[in-house]
Amino acid sequence: MVSAVVLAAGLGTRMKSRLPKVMHRLGRKTLIECVLDTAFSEADEVVVVTGYRRELVEDFLRKRYPSVKFAVQHEQLGTAHAVKSALPEVEGDVVIIMPGDMPFVRRESLRRLVEALDEGFAGAVLVAELSEPAGYGRVVEKNGCVLKIVEEADATEEEKRIKRVNTGVYAFKKDLLEKALDKVKNDNRKGEYYLTDVVEILSSSGYKIKAVEAVRREGMGINSRRQLAEAYRERCREKAYQLMEQGVTILSPENTFIDEDVEVGIDTVIHPFVFIEGKTVIGEGCEIKPFSVIRDSRISDNVVINEHSVIEGAVVDEGVSIGPFARIRPETRLMKGSKIGNFVEVKKSVIGENSKANHLAYIGDAEVGSGVNIGAGTITCNYDGVKKHKTVIEDGVFIGSDTQLVAPVRVGKGALIGAGSTITKDVPPDSLAITRAPMKVLKGRGIEDYRKRKYGIKE
Ligand code: UD1
Ligand code: CA
Repeated sequence: MVSAVVLAAGLGTRMKSRLPKVMHRLGRKTLIECVLDTAFSEADEVVVVTGYRRELVEDFLRKRYPSVKFAVQHEQLGTAHAVKSALPEVEGDVVIIMPGDMPFVRRESLRRLVEALDEGFAGAVLVAELSEPAGYGRVVEKNGCVLKIVEEADATEEEKRIKRVNTGVYAFKKDLLEKALDKVKNDNRKGEYYLTDVVEILSSSGYKIKAVEAVRREGMGINSRRQLAEAYRERCREKAYQLMEQGVTILSPENTFIDEDVEVGIDTVIHPFVFIEGKTVIGEGCEIKPFSVIRDSRISDNVVINEHSVIEGAVVDEGVSIGPFARIRPETRLMKGSKIGNFVEVKKSVIGENSKANHLAYIGDAEVGSGVNIGAGTITCNYDGVKKHKTVIEDGVFIGSDTQLVAPVRVGKGALIGAGSTITKDVPPDSLAITRAPMKVLKGRGIEDYRKRKYGIKE
């Protein structure tokens, strides 16, 4: 059985934050979620070591990972002390250790660490080669094995020149780890119990520790807000390049922000300053124009999303056109060929095939049939101050501009609503409904006449 121990008890002094470091977000996901997703993909159980503001971290994680276990480290005396606090909770005979601030570590790397133990190594360390290794522990190797890890603060000038660094991710046989931890002392620059000392303790007793090579960004840790920003940029760029290789056009990868799990079909064109987040799937041949945000949505093929549109929790069928400046809210379905234009908000509604709401409308809790035309300024009055009510607009209806539909209300198939109407009762199919004060025309009573009468102003 393989257990993972995730270290998340520290405050993260260098972040200068009231929030624990692992609760900072890399895009939409917190650092700790990035790490736990990977941990759970490979380990049979995951123990998170918490300390600083532990209730906050634990409540957050318990909701998302019901099977997660916690171990408390009351005082943050160092990474070795943190792991020691976790061991009573650990059931596996193999222990993977992951810092909570290394969000890029991959499942395959965890697997390779565990495989090293099957090959007979007592432990394995994930090692990254960095051009700027400052701040990381340096890995000292001999004959293909890791001899020891030296922390930056304790390193000699020569050791500081080593570019191979410790990612802080390891796998150990639990019994050996337990014994080695008991021998770790805090006689170093920081006065902390370093987990890294376990490596030297084991190797000097004749045990072999393997260096497993990290790939790409795995060695990037987050200790400061600057590193958080750099990591975010790197991740966005990597995702953009990956999509481009698969046939997506991304005009400016540095300025496009796409979450890891997003899928995009070929020949879709993504303009700069677009955010695509969460579990979003986008089809082929779409065009997504600048400043749009798409979150947790499914977008089919050949959809055009114009500038400054926000789409969340929606399903959008083929050939739909959205925006500019449209807002599509959760539980909305826009069916094939429909069109939602500028300054239109749609919430929890179905818009049928080829129906249009081109300008300035609010459509909430509505069921709109196919071929419907919703005029500018139309509002579904769905909320009576207590409850939400439904508006049904059947196929082929034409709603004149500036109409209020006071829900619950149904407009029958093929009906016509005159502009400026307030519809409070159901409209039967194929009828005209209009509520409008009759218009008067008074000749000779223009603006000049009005000024003269009221203020005595002459021409
Ligand atoms: C650690 C490693 C360093 C490695 C680097 C890579 C040690 C001594 N050093 O340094 O070799 O290059 O990670 O990421 O291990 N934590 C606790 N309890 C504690 C101290 C830390 O839970 O008492 C947690 C922190 O919340 C954090 C993680 O352990 O998530 C790493 O701690 P951090 O202080 O960032 O270690 P580094 O100085 O980066
Ligand atoms: Ca760190």
